[in-house]
Amino acid sequence: MERIVILNFGAQYNQLIARRVREAGVYSEILPPMSSLEKIKGNGLSGVILTGGPDSVYDEGSRTCLEGIYSLDVPVLGICYGMQLMCKHFGGRIAPAPTREYGKTFVRFSESPMFVDMPDSITWMSHNDSVIECPEGFKVTASSDTCDICAVEDNERRLYGVQFHPEVNHTEYCAQFFKNFVLGICGCIGGWSMDNLANELIDEISKQVGDCKVVAGLSGGVDSSVAATLVHRAVGDRLTCIFVDHGLLRLNEAEEVMSYYRNEIGLNVIEVDAKERFLSKLSGVTDPETKRKIIGTEFIRVFEEEARKIGAEYLLQGTIYPDVIESGVGGASVIKSHHNVGGLPKDIGFKGLVEPLRKLFKDEVRRLGESLGMPAPLVWRQPFPGPGLAIRIMGDITPEKLDILRKSDFILRDEIAKAGLDRAIWQYFTVFTGVRSVGVMGDIRTYDYTIAVRAVSSTDAMTVEFSEIPYPVLRRISSRIIAETPHVNRVVFDITDKPPGTIEWE
Ligand code: XMP
Repeated sequence: MERIVILNFGAQYNQLIARRVREAGVYSEILPPMSSLEKIKGNGLSGVILTGGPDSVYDEGSRTCLEGIYSLDVPVLGICYGMQLMCKHFGGRIAPAPTREYGKTFVRFSESPMFVDMPDSITWMSHNDSVIECPEGFKVTASSDTCDICAVEDNERRLYGVQFHPEVNHTEYCAQFFKNFVLGICGCIGGWSMDNLANELIDEISKQVGDCKVVAGLSGGVDSSVAATLVHRAVGDRLTCIFVDHGLLRLNEAEEVMSYYRNEIGLNVIEVDAKERFLSKLSGVTDPETKRKIIGTEFIRVFEEEARKIGAEYLLQGTIYPDVIESGVGGASVIKSHHNVGGLPKDIGFKGLVEPLRKLFKDEVRRLGESLGMPAPLVWRQPFPGPGLAIRIMGDITPEKLDILRKSDFILRDEIAKAGLDRAIWQYFTVFTGVRSVGVMGDIRTYDYTIAVRAVSSTDAMTVEFSEIPYPVLRRISSRIIAETPHVNRVVFDITDKPPGTIEWE
Protein backbone atom coordinates (compact mmCIF):
# COMPACT_ATOMS: atom_id res chain seq x y z
CA MET A 1 0.00 0.00 0.00
CA GLU A 2 1.31 3.48 -0.90
CA ARG A 3 1.31 5.69 2.18
CA ILE A 4 3.03 8.94 3.18
CA VAL A 5 3.41 9.66 6.89
CA ILE A 6 3.42 13.28 8.04
CA LEU A 7 4.97 13.93 11.46
CA ASN A 8 3.24 16.92 13.00
CA PHE A 9 5.39 19.48 14.81
CA GLY A 10 2.44 21.81 15.46
CA ALA A 11 2.22 23.93 12.29
CA GLN A 12 -0.97 25.77 11.35
CA TYR A 13 -0.69 24.29 7.87
CA ASN A 14 0.03 20.60 8.46
CA GLN A 15 -3.35 19.36 7.15
CA LEU A 16 -2.65 21.27 3.96
CA ILE A 17 0.35 18.97 3.52
CA ALA A 18 -1.92 15.92 3.89
CA ARG A 19 -4.29 17.42 1.40
CA ARG A 20 -1.56 18.09 -1.18
CA VAL A 21 -0.40 14.48 -0.87
CA ARG A 22 -4.03 13.33 -1.40
CA GLU A 23 -4.19 15.59 -4.48
CA ALA A 24 -1.10 13.86 -5.84
CA GLY A 25 -3.15 10.65 -5.56
CA VAL A 26 -1.59 9.02 -2.50
CA TYR A 27 -3.07 8.21 0.92
CA SER A 28 -1.47 10.15 3.80
CA GLU A 29 -1.61 9.97 7.55
CA ILE A 30 -0.65 12.62 10.14
CA LEU A 31 1.04 11.20 13.26
CA PRO A 32 2.50 12.75 16.43
CA PRO A 33 6.25 13.46 16.10
CA MET A 34 7.41 10.86 18.63
CA SER A 35 5.41 7.99 17.06
CA SER A 36 7.21 4.64 17.14
CA LEU A 37 9.00 3.43 14.02
CA GLU A 38 6.64 0.41 13.86
CA LYS A 39 3.64 2.74 13.76
CA ILE A 40 5.28 4.90 11.11
CA LYS A 41 6.23 1.90 8.96
CA GLY A 42 2.67 0.57 9.41
CA ASN A 43 1.07 -1.15 6.48
CA GLY A 44 3.41 0.14 3.77
CA LEU A 45 5.42 3.36 3.80
CA SER A 46 6.52 5.37 0.77
CA GLY A 47 7.92 8.51 2.40
CA VAL A 48 7.96 10.71 5.50
CA ILE A 49 7.31 14.46 5.77
CA LEU A 50 8.38 16.49 8.81
CA THR A 51 6.12 19.55 9.15
CA GLY A 52 6.82 23.10 10.25
CA GLY A 53 6.06 24.22 13.79
CA PRO A 54 6.32 27.09 16.26
CA ASP A 55 9.42 25.82 18.19
CA SER A 56 13.10 26.70 17.77
CA VAL A 57 15.30 23.58 17.37
CA TYR A 58 17.77 24.55 20.16
CA ASP A 59 15.02 25.39 22.71
CA GLU A 60 14.66 23.13 25.70
CA GLY A 61 11.66 20.86 25.22
CA SER A 62 11.37 21.65 21.49
CA ARG A 63 9.55 18.97 19.55
CA THR A 64 11.58 16.26 17.88
CA CYS A 65 11.22 12.77 16.38
CA LEU A 66 13.05 9.43 16.72
CA GLU A 67 16.45 9.43 15.02
CA GLY A 68 15.57 6.14 13.30
CA ILE A 69 13.29 8.16 10.99
CA TYR A 70 16.29 8.90 8.81
CA SER A 71 17.18 5.20 8.34
CA LEU A 72 13.80 3.82 7.29
CA ASP A 73 14.94 3.46 3.69
CA VAL A 74 12.28 5.87 2.39
CA PRO A 75 12.73 9.54 1.35
CA VAL A 76 12.31 12.15 4.11
CA LEU A 77 11.21 15.72 3.40
CA GLY A 78 11.53 18.41 6.07
CA ILE A 79 9.46 21.57 5.71
CA CYS A 80 10.54 24.76 7.57
CA TYR A 81 11.04 23.57 11.19
CA GLY A 82 11.23 20.01 9.79
CA MET A 83 14.17 21.02 7.56
CA GLN A 84 15.92 22.74 10.48
CA LEU A 85 15.46 19.66 12.65
CA MET A 86 16.91 17.42 9.94
CA CYS A 87 19.87 19.76 9.38
CA LYS A 88 20.57 19.96 13.12
CA HIS A 89 20.52 16.15 13.34
CA PHE A 90 23.12 15.82 10.56
CA GLY A 91 25.45 18.50 12.01
CA GLY A 92 24.25 21.70 10.29
CA ARG A 93 23.81 25.00 12.14
CA ILE A 94 20.59 26.94 12.66
CA ALA A 95 20.29 30.54 13.90
CA PRO A 96 17.72 33.34 14.11
CA ALA A 97 17.53 34.86 10.62
CA PRO A 98 18.95 38.41 10.36
CA THR A 99 15.82 39.34 8.38
CA ARG A 100 12.64 37.55 9.36
CA GLU A 101 11.01 36.26 6.15
CA TYR A 102 7.25 36.38 6.14
CA GLY A 103 4.89 36.25 3.17
CA LYS A 104 5.36 35.87 -0.56
CA THR A 105 9.05 35.49 -1.42
CA PHE A 106 10.75 35.00 -4.77
CA VAL A 107 12.99 31.91 -4.72
CA ARG A 108 15.59 30.70 -7.24
CA PHE A 109 15.78 26.91 -7.65
CA SER A 110 18.78 24.82 -8.78
CA GLU A 111 18.45 21.53 -10.59
CA SER A 112 16.92 19.04 -8.18
CA PRO A 113 14.37 16.20 -8.22
CA MET A 114 12.31 18.41 -5.84
CA PHE A 115 12.01 21.20 -8.37
CA VAL A 116 11.31 19.40 -11.66
CA ASP A 117 9.17 21.66 -13.89
CA MET A 118 9.37 24.48 -11.34
CA PRO A 119 10.85 27.74 -12.67
CA ASP A 120 12.17 30.33 -10.19
CA SER A 121 8.98 31.69 -8.64
CA ILE A 122 7.02 32.92 -5.61
CA THR A 123 6.89 30.77 -2.48
CA TRP A 124 5.32 31.34 0.93
CA MET A 125 7.78 31.95 3.79
CA SER A 126 7.06 32.17 7.49
CA HIS A 127 10.13 31.69 9.68
CA ASN A 128 12.30 33.31 12.34
CA ASP A 129 15.19 30.79 12.29
CA SER A 130 17.24 29.72 9.25
CA VAL A 131 19.79 27.05 8.41
CA ILE A 132 23.09 28.96 8.26
CA GLU A 133 25.40 26.02 7.68
CA CYS A 134 24.49 23.02 5.57
CA PRO A 135 25.26 19.57 7.07
CA GLU A 136 28.04 17.52 5.46
CA GLY A 137 26.91 15.55 2.42
CA PHE A 138 24.01 18.00 1.73
CA LYS A 139 23.94 20.66 -0.97
CA VAL A 140 21.95 23.88 -1.19
CA THR A 141 19.32 23.84 -3.95
CA ALA A 142 17.40 27.11 -3.53
CA SER A 143 17.93 30.65 -2.27
CA SER A 144 16.14 34.01 -1.99
CA ASP A 145 17.40 37.59 -1.68
CA THR A 146 17.27 37.39 2.12
CA CYS A 147 17.95 33.69 2.76
CA ASP A 148 20.92 31.82 1.27
CA ILE A 149 19.70 28.36 2.21
CA CYS A 150 16.05 27.93 1.15
CA ALA A 151 16.37 24.23 0.31
CA VAL A 152 18.88 21.41 0.90
CA GLU A 153 19.24 17.82 -0.22
CA ASP A 154 21.34 14.71 0.06
CA ASN A 155 20.18 12.72 -2.92
CA GLU A 156 22.15 9.62 -1.99
CA ARG A 157 20.44 9.25 1.38
CA ARG A 158 17.17 10.62 -0.09
CA LEU A 159 16.91 13.47 2.45
CA TYR A 160 15.32 16.78 1.40
CA GLY A 161 14.43 20.04 3.08
CA VAL A 162 12.70 23.28 2.13
CA GLN A 163 12.52 26.46 4.20
CA PHE A 164 9.41 27.74 2.41
CA HIS A 165 5.92 26.27 2.73
CA PRO A 166 5.17 24.35 -0.48
CA GLU A 167 1.76 23.27 0.92
CA VAL A 168 0.30 26.81 0.94
CA ASN A 169 -1.58 28.02 -2.13
CA HIS A 170 0.55 31.17 -2.26
CA THR A 171 3.49 28.99 -3.35
CA GLU A 172 3.03 29.19 -7.09
CA TYR A 173 4.01 25.62 -7.93
CA CYS A 174 2.56 23.95 -4.82
CA ALA A 175 0.87 21.06 -6.65
CA GLN A 176 3.93 20.38 -8.84
CA PHE A 177 6.20 20.31 -5.80
CA PHE A 178 4.15 17.54 -4.17
CA LYS A 179 3.93 15.60 -7.41
CA ASN A 180 7.73 15.78 -7.58
CA PHE A 181 8.13 14.49 -4.04
CA VAL A 182 5.36 11.88 -3.91
CA LEU A 183 5.42 10.49 -7.45
CA GLY A 184 9.01 11.36 -8.42
CA ILE A 185 11.22 11.03 -5.35
CA CYS A 186 9.08 8.51 -3.40
CA GLY A 187 8.22 6.61 -6.60
CA CYS A 188 4.49 6.24 -5.85
CA ILE A 189 2.08 5.34 -8.67
CA GLY A 190 -0.90 7.31 -7.23
CA GLY A 191 -4.54 6.54 -7.99
CA TRP A 192 -6.15 7.23 -4.58
CA SER A 193 -9.09 9.59 -5.20
CA MET A 194 -11.98 11.46 -3.55
CA ASP A 195 -14.42 8.86 -4.85
CA ASN A 196 -12.85 6.24 -2.56
CA LEU A 197 -13.37 8.55 0.36
CA ALA A 198 -17.18 8.47 0.55
CA ASN A 199 -17.20 4.68 0.90
CA GLU A 200 -14.38 4.71 3.46
CA LEU A 201 -16.23 7.32 5.54
CA ILE A 202 -19.61 5.55 5.34
CA ASP A 203 -17.89 2.35 6.51
CA GLU A 204 -16.20 4.10 9.43
CA ILE A 205 -19.51 5.69 10.51
CA SER A 206 -21.31 2.32 10.47
CA LYS A 207 -18.56 0.79 12.60
CA GLN A 208 -18.56 3.69 15.06
CA VAL A 209 -22.31 3.96 15.75
CA GLY A 210 -23.37 0.31 15.39
CA ASP A 211 -27.15 0.04 16.01
CA CYS A 212 -27.45 3.37 17.87
CA LYS A 213 -29.46 6.43 16.86
CA VAL A 214 -27.76 9.66 15.79
CA VAL A 215 -28.82 13.31 15.99
CA ALA A 216 -27.22 15.74 13.56
CA GLY A 217 -26.78 19.45 14.01
CA LEU A 218 -27.77 20.86 10.63
CA SER A 219 -26.97 24.49 9.82
CA GLY A 220 -27.96 24.78 6.17
CA GLY A 221 -24.31 24.94 5.16
CA VAL A 222 -22.44 22.48 3.02
CA ASP A 223 -20.43 20.86 5.83
CA SER A 224 -23.29 19.71 8.02
CA SER A 225 -25.37 18.78 4.96
CA VAL A 226 -22.62 16.55 3.49
CA ALA A 227 -21.98 15.03 6.93
CA ALA A 228 -25.71 14.27 7.34
CA THR A 229 -25.92 12.74 3.86
CA LEU A 230 -23.00 10.41 4.66
CA VAL A 231 -24.56 9.33 7.96
CA HIS A 232 -27.93 8.91 6.31
CA ARG A 233 -26.30 6.49 3.86
CA ALA A 234 -24.71 4.65 6.80
CA VAL A 235 -27.63 4.44 9.27
CA GLY A 236 -30.78 5.37 7.29
CA ASP A 237 -33.72 6.56 9.38
CA ARG A 238 -31.82 6.14 12.65
CA LEU A 239 -30.63 9.67 11.86
CA THR A 240 -32.63 12.71 13.03
CA CYS A 241 -31.44 16.16 11.96
CA ILE A 242 -31.90 19.26 14.10
CA PHE A 243 -31.87 22.80 12.78
CA VAL A 244 -31.43 25.31 15.62
CA ASP A 245 -32.67 28.86 15.11
CA HIS A 246 -30.47 30.68 17.63
CA GLY A 247 -31.66 34.15 16.65
CA LEU A 248 -28.31 34.87 14.99
CA LEU A 249 -29.29 33.85 11.46
CA ARG A 250 -29.40 36.03 8.36
CA LEU A 251 -32.62 37.52 6.98
CA ASN A 252 -35.10 34.76 5.97
CA GLU A 253 -32.44 32.09 6.56
CA ALA A 254 -34.50 29.72 8.75
CA GLU A 255 -37.42 29.58 6.29
CA GLU A 256 -35.17 29.12 3.26
CA VAL A 257 -33.06 26.38 4.80
CA MET A 258 -35.99 24.43 6.23
CA SER A 259 -37.90 24.48 2.95
CA TYR A 260 -34.77 23.32 1.15
CA TYR A 261 -34.16 20.39 3.48
CA ARG A 262 -37.81 19.34 3.45
CA ASN A 263 -38.45 19.67 -0.28
CA GLU A 264 -35.11 18.90 -1.95
CA ILE A 265 -33.21 16.45 0.26
CA GLY A 266 -35.21 13.72 1.92
CA LEU A 267 -33.76 14.18 5.43
CA ASN A 268 -35.86 14.05 8.59
CA VAL A 269 -35.36 17.55 10.08
CA ILE A 270 -36.74 19.08 13.29
CA GLU A 271 -36.59 22.87 13.71
CA VAL A 272 -35.93 24.13 17.24
CA ASP A 273 -36.72 27.74 18.11
CA ALA A 274 -33.98 28.66 20.60
CA LYS A 275 -33.81 32.42 19.93
CA GLU A 276 -34.68 33.48 23.48
CA ARG A 277 -32.24 31.18 25.25
CA PHE A 278 -29.23 32.05 23.07
CA LEU A 279 -29.84 35.79 23.09
CA SER A 280 -30.41 35.97 26.84
CA LYS A 281 -27.21 33.98 27.54
CA LEU A 282 -25.28 36.34 25.24
CA SER A 283 -26.75 39.53 26.65
CA GLY A 284 -24.00 42.01 27.62
CA VAL A 285 -21.16 39.67 26.51
CA THR A 286 -18.45 41.46 24.50
CA ASP A 287 -15.43 39.12 24.46
CA PRO A 288 -15.23 37.07 21.20
CA GLU A 289 -13.98 33.87 22.85
CA THR A 290 -16.66 34.06 25.58
CA LYS A 291 -19.34 34.49 22.90
CA ARG A 292 -18.04 31.43 21.05
CA LYS A 293 -17.97 29.29 24.20
CA ILE A 294 -21.50 30.30 25.25
CA ILE A 295 -22.78 29.44 21.77
CA GLY A 296 -20.89 26.12 21.62
CA THR A 297 -22.31 25.09 25.01
CA GLU A 298 -25.85 26.17 24.22
CA PHE A 299 -25.87 24.25 20.93
CA ILE A 300 -24.85 21.08 22.79
CA ARG A 301 -27.55 21.61 25.45
CA VAL A 302 -30.22 21.90 22.74
CA PHE A 303 -28.92 18.76 20.97
CA GLU A 304 -28.83 16.84 24.28
CA GLU A 305 -32.46 17.74 25.03
CA GLU A 306 -33.61 16.67 21.57
CA ALA A 307 -31.51 13.48 21.69
CA ARG A 308 -33.08 12.49 25.01
CA LYS A 309 -36.55 12.75 23.46
CA ILE A 310 -35.68 10.26 20.71
CA GLY A 311 -33.10 8.10 22.51
CA ALA A 312 -30.11 9.07 20.35
CA GLU A 313 -26.64 8.35 21.67
CA TYR A 314 -24.41 9.97 19.06
CA LEU A 315 -24.14 13.57 17.90
CA LEU A 316 -23.08 14.28 14.33
CA GLN A 317 -21.22 17.51 13.64
CA GLY A 318 -20.01 18.89 10.31
CA THR A 319 -16.64 19.89 11.79
CA ILE A 320 -14.01 20.45 9.11
CA TYR A 321 -10.27 20.77 9.41
CA PRO A 322 -9.91 24.59 9.65
CA ASP A 323 -12.34 24.51 12.64
CA VAL A 324 -10.04 21.99 14.32
CA ILE A 325 -6.71 23.63 13.65
CA GLU A 326 -7.82 27.19 14.52
CA SER A 327 -9.22 25.90 17.81
CA GLY A 328 -5.68 24.84 18.75
CA VAL A 329 -6.07 21.05 18.59
CA GLY A 330 -2.81 19.09 18.09
CA GLY A 331 -0.44 21.69 19.52
CA ALA A 332 -1.20 24.56 17.09
CA SER A 333 -1.95 27.90 18.77
CA VAL A 334 -5.57 28.91 19.37
CA ILE A 335 -6.71 31.45 16.79
CA LYS A 336 -10.41 31.24 17.64
CA SER A 337 -12.54 28.58 19.33
CA HIS A 338 -14.83 27.32 16.61
CA HIS A 339 -18.24 26.65 18.14
CA ASN A 340 -18.11 22.93 17.34
CA VAL A 341 -14.56 22.26 18.61
CA GLY A 342 -12.89 24.68 21.05
CA GLY A 343 -16.26 26.17 22.00
CA LEU A 344 -17.66 22.81 23.19
CA PRO A 345 -18.37 22.28 26.90
CA LYS A 346 -16.27 19.63 28.71
CA ASP A 347 -19.31 17.59 29.78
CA ILE A 348 -21.20 16.33 26.75
CA GLY A 349 -24.18 14.05 27.29
CA PHE A 350 -23.44 11.80 24.31
CA LYS A 351 -21.74 8.44 23.97
CA GLY A 352 -19.69 9.98 21.18
CA LEU A 353 -19.32 12.61 18.48
CA VAL A 354 -19.42 11.60 14.83
CA GLU A 355 -17.25 13.96 12.77
CA PRO A 356 -16.59 12.37 9.38
CA LEU A 357 -15.23 15.58 7.77
CA ARG A 358 -12.76 16.46 10.52
CA LYS A 359 -9.73 16.03 8.26
CA LEU A 360 -11.10 17.68 5.13
CA PHE A 361 -11.02 21.20 3.73
CA LYS A 362 -14.03 23.06 2.42
CA ASP A 363 -13.35 22.43 -1.26
CA GLU A 364 -12.77 18.73 -0.56
CA VAL A 365 -16.13 18.63 1.28
CA ARG A 366 -17.73 20.22 -1.79
CA ARG A 367 -16.19 17.63 -4.10
CA LEU A 368 -17.38 14.90 -1.74
CA GLY A 369 -20.89 16.43 -1.80
CA GLU A 370 -20.84 16.36 -5.59
CA SER A 371 -19.67 12.74 -5.65
CA LEU A 372 -22.61 11.90 -3.32
CA GLY A 373 -24.95 13.48 -5.90
CA MET A 374 -26.08 16.39 -3.70
CA PRO A 375 -27.79 19.40 -5.38
CA ALA A 376 -25.36 22.08 -6.64
CA PRO A 377 -27.00 25.09 -4.87
CA LEU A 378 -26.42 23.38 -1.53
CA VAL A 379 -22.90 22.22 -2.33
CA TRP A 380 -21.91 25.71 -3.49
CA ARG A 381 -23.69 27.72 -0.77
CA GLN A 382 -21.27 30.25 0.73
CA PRO A 383 -20.02 29.30 4.20
CA PHE A 384 -21.88 30.69 7.22
CA PRO A 385 -20.33 30.15 10.67
CA GLY A 386 -22.21 28.26 13.41
CA PRO A 387 -22.06 31.25 15.81
CA GLY A 388 -23.74 33.27 13.03
CA LEU A 389 -24.10 37.01 13.33
CA ALA A 390 -22.77 36.95 16.93
CA ILE A 391 -19.19 37.03 15.63
CA ARG A 392 -19.98 39.76 13.11
CA ILE A 393 -21.13 42.22 15.77
CA MET A 394 -18.22 43.77 17.63
CA GLY A 395 -19.15 44.24 21.27
CA ASP A 396 -22.42 43.18 22.87
CA ILE A 397 -25.32 41.84 20.83
CA THR A 398 -28.65 43.68 20.85
CA PRO A 399 -31.82 43.29 18.75
CA GLU A 400 -31.15 46.74 17.19
CA LYS A 401 -27.62 45.76 16.07
CA LEU A 402 -28.86 42.40 14.75
CA ASP A 403 -31.50 44.21 12.74
CA ILE A 404 -28.94 46.64 11.24
CA LEU A 405 -26.59 43.79 10.39
CA ARG A 406 -29.32 41.66 8.80
CA LYS A 407 -30.53 44.52 6.60
CA SER A 408 -27.05 45.54 5.46
CA ASP A 409 -26.06 41.91 4.82
CA PHE A 410 -29.19 41.32 2.75
CA ILE A 411 -28.39 44.38 0.59
CA LEU A 412 -24.82 43.21 0.07
CA ARG A 413 -25.96 39.74 -1.00
CA ASP A 414 -28.57 41.21 -3.28
CA GLU A 415 -26.09 43.53 -5.03
CA ILE A 416 -23.41 40.83 -5.34
CA ALA A 417 -25.98 38.53 -6.97
CA LYS A 418 -27.18 41.29 -9.32
CA ALA A 419 -23.57 41.93 -10.35
CA GLY A 420 -23.24 38.18 -11.14
CA LEU A 421 -20.41 37.78 -8.63
CA ASP A 422 -22.05 35.32 -6.24
CA ARG A 423 -20.15 32.24 -7.49
CA ALA A 424 -16.91 34.16 -8.07
CA ILE A 425 -16.61 35.45 -4.49
CA TRP A 426 -16.03 32.72 -1.94
CA GLN A 427 -17.62 34.39 1.06
CA TYR A 428 -19.08 37.87 1.58
CA PHE A 429 -20.93 39.52 4.41
CA THR A 430 -21.24 42.72 6.41
CA VAL A 431 -19.81 43.42 9.86
CA PHE A 432 -21.28 45.65 12.55
CA THR A 433 -18.04 47.36 13.59
CA GLY A 434 -19.46 49.18 16.63
CA VAL A 435 -17.64 52.34 15.48
CA ARG A 436 -19.72 55.56 15.29
CA SER A 437 -18.69 58.55 13.24
CA VAL A 438 -19.96 61.94 12.15
CA GLY A 439 -21.69 62.37 8.81
CA VAL A 440 -24.10 64.67 7.05
CA MET A 441 -27.38 63.48 5.54
CA GLY A 442 -30.03 65.82 4.16
CA ASP A 443 -28.12 68.84 5.57
CA ILE A 444 -28.29 67.38 9.05
CA ARG A 445 -25.41 66.14 11.20
CA THR A 446 -25.46 62.42 11.94
CA TYR A 447 -23.49 60.42 14.48
CA ASP A 448 -24.14 56.85 13.47
CA TYR A 449 -22.72 53.37 12.96
CA THR A 450 -20.10 52.08 10.49
CA ILE A 451 -20.73 48.89 8.53
CA ALA A 452 -17.78 47.00 7.04
CA VAL A 453 -18.06 44.92 3.88
CA ARG A 454 -15.94 41.75 3.90
CA ALA A 455 -15.51 39.72 0.70
CA VAL A 456 -12.82 37.10 0.17
CA SER A 457 -11.67 34.53 -2.33
CA SER A 458 -10.24 31.22 -1.17
CA THR A 459 -10.33 27.52 -1.84
CA ASP A 460 -9.90 26.17 1.66
CA ALA A 461 -10.37 29.04 4.18
CA MET A 462 -6.79 28.61 5.41
CA THR A 463 -5.44 31.43 3.27
CA VAL A 464 -7.60 34.05 1.59
CA GLU A 465 -7.30 37.20 -0.46
CA PHE A 466 -9.78 40.05 -0.22
CA SER A 467 -11.92 40.16 -3.37
CA GLU A 468 -11.47 43.02 -5.78
CA ILE A 469 -15.12 44.04 -6.12
CA PRO A 470 -15.46 46.62 -8.94
CA TYR A 471 -15.86 50.19 -7.65
CA PRO A 472 -19.28 50.78 -9.27
CA VAL A 473 -20.62 47.70 -7.42
CA LEU A 474 -19.05 48.90 -4.16
CA ARG A 475 -20.60 52.32 -4.67
CA ARG A 476 -24.07 50.80 -5.16
CA ILE A 477 -23.63 48.64 -2.06
CA SER A 478 -22.54 51.62 0.01
CA SER A 479 -25.36 53.94 -1.12
CA ARG A 480 -28.02 51.29 -0.64
CA ILE A 481 -26.80 50.26 2.82
CA ILE A 482 -26.79 53.87 3.99
CA ALA A 483 -30.13 54.71 2.38
CA GLU A 484 -31.98 51.57 3.49
CA THR A 485 -30.46 50.73 6.88
CA PRO A 486 -31.37 52.97 9.80
CA HIS A 487 -28.51 54.35 11.93
CA VAL A 488 -25.76 53.62 9.40
CA ASN A 489 -23.92 56.61 7.92
CA ARG A 490 -20.64 55.05 6.77
CA VAL A 491 -19.56 51.91 4.88
CA VAL A 492 -15.94 50.70 4.73
CA PHE A 493 -14.37 47.87 2.71
CA ASP A 494 -12.03 45.42 4.45
CA ILE A 495 -8.83 44.98 2.40
CA THR A 496 -7.08 42.44 4.64
CA ASP A 497 -5.88 39.03 3.45
CA LYS A 498 -5.63 35.92 5.67
CA PRO A 499 -3.08 35.73 7.12
CA PRO A 500 -2.62 38.27 8.68
CA GLY A 501 -6.39 38.73 9.19
CA THR A 502 -9.01 36.02 9.53
CA ILE A 503 -12.20 35.88 7.48
CA GLU A 504 -14.58 36.67 10.33
CA TRP A 505 -13.79 39.67 12.53
CA GLU A 506 -14.14 37.69 15.77
P1 XMP B 1 -11.88 32.47 9.96
O1 XMP B 1 -12.65 33.63 10.50
O2 XMP B 1 -11.32 31.61 11.04
O3 XMP B 1 -12.95 31.55 9.24
O4 XMP B 1 -10.85 32.84 8.95
C1 XMP B 1 -12.68 30.43 8.44
C2 XMP B 1 -14.01 29.89 7.96
O5 XMP B 1 -14.70 29.27 9.06
C3 XMP B 1 -15.93 29.93 9.32
N1 XMP B 1 -16.03 29.98 10.78
C4 XMP B 1 -16.75 29.10 11.50
N2 XMP B 1 -17.54 28.08 11.10
N3 XMP B 1 -18.03 27.62 13.37
C5 XMP B 1 -18.19 27.37 12.05
O6 XMP B 1 -18.99 26.48 11.72
C6 XMP B 1 -17.26 28.62 13.85
O7 XMP B 1 -17.15 28.81 15.06
C7 XMP B 1 -16.59 29.40 12.85
N4 XMP B 1 -15.75 30.47 12.93
C8 XMP B 1 -15.42 30.80 11.62
C9 XMP B 1 -15.82 31.29 8.66
O8 XMP B 1 -17.09 31.81 8.30
C10 XMP B 1 -14.96 30.96 7.46
O9 XMP B 1 -15.70 30.40 6.41
